[in-house]
Formats: sequence, C-alpha cells, structure tokens
Amino acid sequence: MFTRIIHRATKIHNHHSLNIPRRQMSMGTTTETVVSRLKSCGLLQTKGLIGGKWTDASDGRTFQVNNPATGDVIASVACMGEKEAKDAISSAYHAFGHWSKLTAADRSSRLRNWYNLLIQHKEELGQLITLEQGKPLKEAIGEVGYGASFIEFYAEEAKRVYGDVIPSTLPDRRLFVLKQPVGVVGAITPWNFPLAMITRKVGPALACGCTVVVKPSEFTPLTALAAAELALQSGIPPGVLNVVMGDATKIGNSLLESPQVRKITFTGSTAVGKKLMAGAAETVKKVSLELGGNAPCIVFDDADLEVALKGSLATKFRNSGQTCVCANRILVQEGIYEKFTSAFSNAVQNLKVGDGFTEGVVQGPLINEAAVQKADSFIQDAISKGAKVLVGGKRHSLGFTFYEPTVISDVTNEMLIARQEVFGPVAPVIKFKTEEEAIQIANDTNAGLAAYIFTNSIQRSWRVSEALEYGIVGVNEGVVSTEVAPFGGYKQSGLGREGSKYGLDEYLEIKYVCMGNMG
Ligand code: SIN
Repeated sequence: MFTRIIHRATKIHNHHSLNIPRRQMSMGTTTETVVSRLKSCGLLQTKGLIGGKWTDASDGRTFQVNNPATGDVIASVACMGEKEAKDAISSAYHAFGHWSKLTAADRSSRLRNWYNLLIQHKEELGQLITLEQGKPLKEAIGEVGYGASFIEFYAEEAKRVYGDVIPSTLPDRRLFVLKQPVGVVGAITPWNFPLAMITRKVGPALACGCTVVVKPSEFTPLTALAAAELALQSGIPPGVLNVVMGDATKIGNSLLESPQVRKITFTGSTAVGKKLMAGAAETVKKVSLELGGNAPCIVFDDADLEVALKGSLATKFRNSGQTCVCANRILVQEGIYEKFTSAFSNAVQNLKVGDGFTEGVVQGPLINEAAVQKADSFIQDAISKGAKVLVGGKRHSLGFTFYEPTVISDVTNEMLIARQEVFGPVAPVIKFKTEEEAIQIANDTNAGLAAYIFTNSIQRSWRVSEALEYGIVGVNEGVVSTEVAPFGGYKQSGLGREGSKYGLDEYLEIKYVCMGNMG
C-alpha cells in the first residue's frame, strides 16, 4: 500500500557555553568535533521517543546518519519498524485523553516553553542541521528561527480555537458548534527542513489538543530527536510527542492502518503523497499533503532588474534548490531577456559552494547521490533538446554530492527540467513574448504550490496573481514563507494549509450540538 518514502524535497546550551566561536567553526570544524560538543550538551539523541522514554529498536537494529558534505558517519540511530510504530501510536492514544483536556492556556504555556528552549539552543540546533542536512550554518540557524516561530505562533493560537453559536430555527432550541481535536496525528516529514517541517505540523496539532507520532526522514532524524528532547524539557507530557524512524514503509503502513490514528500529515514527494492518500482511505482519516511544486518565476519587461535578480536568486538557490517552493522555471520576457540572463548568470557564477560550516558558503551539498544524478539527467535531457548551459552544469570539483550552481538557457516547457521538480541548484530559463503566454506556460503543469512574478505594474501584479493556479504567489519577492501565512498548494501540490490561523483547521473536528427543551 505504501512503498518506501522517497525522501524529498524529499539540539542543549548556547553557543558561548559550548565554547565554539563562530569564526573558529567556520575554519574547518570536523564532524567529530561538532558531534562531541553536541553530545556533551545532551542534544545528540539516537533512540526513538515513545511514551516519553528514549527507546532502542526492539531487535537492536540501527542505521547510520551521514554528513552529506564529508560522507562522515555522524551517529547510529535506532532503526524502528512496525512494533515501535504501534507502541508510539498507543502512547499517543493514551496521552490524548489527558492532553486534550488540559486548558488551552496550559497547552499554550508548555508550547511557549518549547519555543523558548528552541531559541535558546538555536546555535546547536543549527549546527546539527548543517551536519546532517548540509545547508550553510547561517541558513540552518535561520531554519531554527523559522521552525521555532511555528511553535510560538501556535502557542498563541491555542487560546483562539473558537466555536460558534448559531441562531436557532426553533424557539426552544439552542445550536452550538464546538471545535475539538481530531485525535492522534501521524506526521511524516522530509529532510530538507529537518526542524521546520516538524514544528509546522506539531505546533498546530498540540495547540488543538492532538497528540502526535512523528516519522522524520531517515537522512535527518537527529534534529527531530533533539527537538523532541527539548519538548520533553518544556513540560510537554510523555506520549504527547513521539518520534519513530527507520523502516519508512513499515512505520508508514502502521500509521495508515491504525484506526487510532485520525489524521496523516505529510510533506514530501507527490508520488508518496498519493500513496498515503489512498492508504488513508481505508480508515477514512483526515489528510494534509504538502507535495512537490514546479514553481514558475516570471520576470516581465517592466520589472526592476535588481529586485528581479535578488528575488530569483533567493527563490532558486535557497537550500541549494532543495525546497518545494524553489523556482523550477525562470520565465523571462523577451525585452529584458538578454540583460536579465547575463546578470543572473554572473551572480550564479559567484555563489560560493562548500561545506556549510565554512564562512561565506551559500551553497551546500545535495542530500545524496540520487539528487546529483537527477540534476545531471535533467540537464542532459535539456541539452539533447536544444538547451544551452550558461553556467555550471556538472558536479562540483569538491566531489561528494556538491553540484555547480547552474543556469541553462533556451529551455522550453516540454523539456523534463520544466515538467518535473529538479530539486537542485539548476535554473532553466524560458523566453516568452506576452503576459498571456507567460500565464499559459506557468499554469501548464500538474503542480500548483508557489509562483513568483516580478513587475512594476500594480495592475499586472493583480491580474497575474489572480490568473496563476498556485497556492502561494510572491510579487517582487522570492522568499515568501512565514508562520503567519497559509502555505499549501493547488492541484497535485497538495491538500490543506500549514501555518497561520488556517493551519489549525487541519487538526480540528467540527461538532454541532443541538440542545432541545430550552424554552
Ligand atoms: C518545503 O520545501 O517543503 C518547505 C519550504 C518552506 O517552508 O519555505
């Protein structure tokens, strides 16, 4: 029912107490030294968390987590499966009775404690993210702030889960609407944001009174486990947040099959999302899916060149192109095409690639060899159909999974690179003539997550924003994600929204109460 998760894109004390001056770290910190510092702080957890207890796999199996920048083994982590998933579900089920009955204010203050601890340990969590995921340390620390913001936001929203009173149709009746937590949530999260994709799900779930079993990516479980340790320290009771990782198929199937799990929330590939949706049908669970994108980034002739360059670079090369909202196609109008493409190529040429702990690096390694091969194969397909490589186009001389930031011109919307999400640092440029043509190309895809437009015309920005079949539109802005706004897609990019007040609805049931004999 549920084949192996295709990972997509698919934590301690403060910096100073660790005695790790930032400058020194950036001058060649090894996996070993960072690991030993994290261990001494107690945030390098390697067991699963079930019912508040750090737990080994029942058969003692482990798997290795590697640093993608060096290939070093960071740690061996409990390799869990069906038994542990069932235990975690059972813990979450039992914890639900107590957690859901706490006052909203009580849940809120525990979430707030968790937020405070995440921020207090921003540096260490950032180091852990760089170590297991590869993104540059500054970006990783930025992710901790972003991830923590969901916990802060939902600590506040916990107190605003309002119901309704409906004017009655009969004089002796009173009609109410209550909002109640759905129950146990299974949250399956990706490697590209090892912290933020967890907090974006767990924050609203816990705020509503749900309990959760998280299955983090096997590439990046350490950040999830560190965050869970901080959740325990913050007073979130045992069993409310459980973490199991290892055999993705077995854990996924256990979550799908259990009638006790009332909701599945997933961020990852569209292919896996479809399987989860089908699997959830058997027990009629609520499902939220945040799946792949194919974001167009449209630069019109009337755009401010500097703004368009800054925004396109940011949306394309954030996390080395490994986000579902990264521009996957850069559409440039013919009047600005030469100027934009040449300035964009120059800027891309200068992006510094390297180990995320090295000062000045803005492009880390890709997550694994499969990601490199995917980028390579998409580029070869484009070249064979007439595209030209302007910058990059191959593995980086640093080896491992480092890839040269790439710009390809003369791309058409029929090429593989324009049809599928490349999920890497490759920017294909497509030339267009008219606004209608740009909209047609942009919407000619099954995906509908994020889109970007660059224009100085207010009328055009409204017109095009309304015409784009996308859940998120950035106008003269390349980085649009924030905890206060709804994140989610149209078409096959998913179901439901994360973040903002809308994100709460995904974890709530609506109950109508009709009271008679009230005259
Ligand atoms: C994702 O890539 O799944 C999330 C990106 C974001 O939150 O900005």
